[in-house]
Amino acid sequence: MSTTIRNSSLQPDSVPRGDRVVVSGIKPTGTPHLGNLVGMLRPVARMRGGGDRFCFVADLHALTTRRDAAELRDAVYDAVATLLALGLDPVRVTTFRQSDVPEILELSWILGTLAPMPFMERAHACKAARAEGRTATLGLVSYPVLMAADILSFRGEIVPAGSDQAQHVEMARTLARRFNHRFGGDLPLPRALHEKGARSELPGLDGRKMSKQYRNTIPITATPEKRRALVRTIVTDSSPVDAPKNPEASPVTAIFDAFATPEESANLRQALRDGRADWGEAKDALIHVLDRELEPIRERFHSLRSNEQGLEAVLLDGGRTARQRAAATLRGVRSLTGIGPVQHAPVRRPAAAYASGLLDRALEMTFPASDPVAIATPQTRREE
Ligand code: TRP
Repeated sequence: MSTTIRNSSLQPDSVPRGDRVVVSGIKPTGTPHLGNLVGMLRPVARMRGGGDRFCFVADLHALTTRRDAAELRDAVYDAVATLLALGLDPVRVTTFRQSDVPEILELSWILGTLAPMPFMERAHACKAARAEGRTATLGLVSYPVLMAADILSFRGEIVPAGSDQAQHVEMARTLARRFNHRFGGDLPLPRALHEKGARSELPGLDGRKMSKQYRNTIPITATPEKRRALVRTIVTDSSPVDAPKNPEASPVTAIFDAFATPEESANLRQALRDGRADWGEAKDALIHVLDRELEPIRERFHSLRSNEQGLEAVLLDGGRTARQRAAATLRGVRSLTGIGPVQHAPVRRPAAAYASGLLDRALEMTFPASDPVAIATPQTRREE
């Protein structure tokens, strides 16, 4: 499989190593496009490392924007079929549907009680809604809390994600820290993993970020004819055919880089600069590398997608494993927070570290003023 799914832009050192827990989620929103492929699908499908890996389809998150049951189910199957087509191996990566793990929602509630409104209102989605004059729903405001619960339920440490998710992962980190501080927990503090050296934002046909909202995308599952037609519409400058060209003057080269080998990228840029290639030829080259990478994926996608029972089996199987892990985390969380019946052998870290204030001080030193939530708590605590 790996022979057809190359990824020149994913550097080996950006692949998580060791035994750290890797968690990533995909929001099922319509047909995935090349921007999604480069930004998150490919890194997620290629998650490696010795630690436990979890990958889920975030159908609960999708409810903040989707209102049609049949469409949502289709989008969930599209997402999981795309991941599998890209080479995600459900034997090595626990692959599941978010809503099959209700423990996540319980943790989400608990984390929500630790999230002050001003902290939540700083999130991008919330700000965007306000800027556009839309009323944010409670679901939208608490989107990052649910995302934190997704990660922390599995004690996730590494979160492969596009750069647009960096703020959310940072918020998850803050909530983990706050939970640990408040209840004496030991949730690991997660970090986002971006593809090193790669653009996690691929430009679209018009040069702006590739996004469904701008209608400038190339869908992963477009037919070759459709894909070629779309490539032909990519904006270029109007340099004469044999004039030297600035390779950066068109998104063609940036998209090409994400699918070509480093040599191919260097050659194309040089040919453009020397005036040996025109933009039409650059587009031919792009069509070639896209065909090479996407045709096998598209075929696999269609064969996987036509077997919904098979996809369900993968999701349900992964869901069982995921639930066991989340339930173990939640047993500890329940015991620490005091919800649910008394547990035998509660999981608690030694109280001494907390009582002495050592941990507070260590946290302040590690995570300075960028984090008002973490800063506020030790202060008020000490004054009590
Ligand atoms: N918010 C992410 C997105 O829009 C999807 C997501 C939900 C996620 N929960 C997550 C990603 C947990 C990483 C970890 O793409």
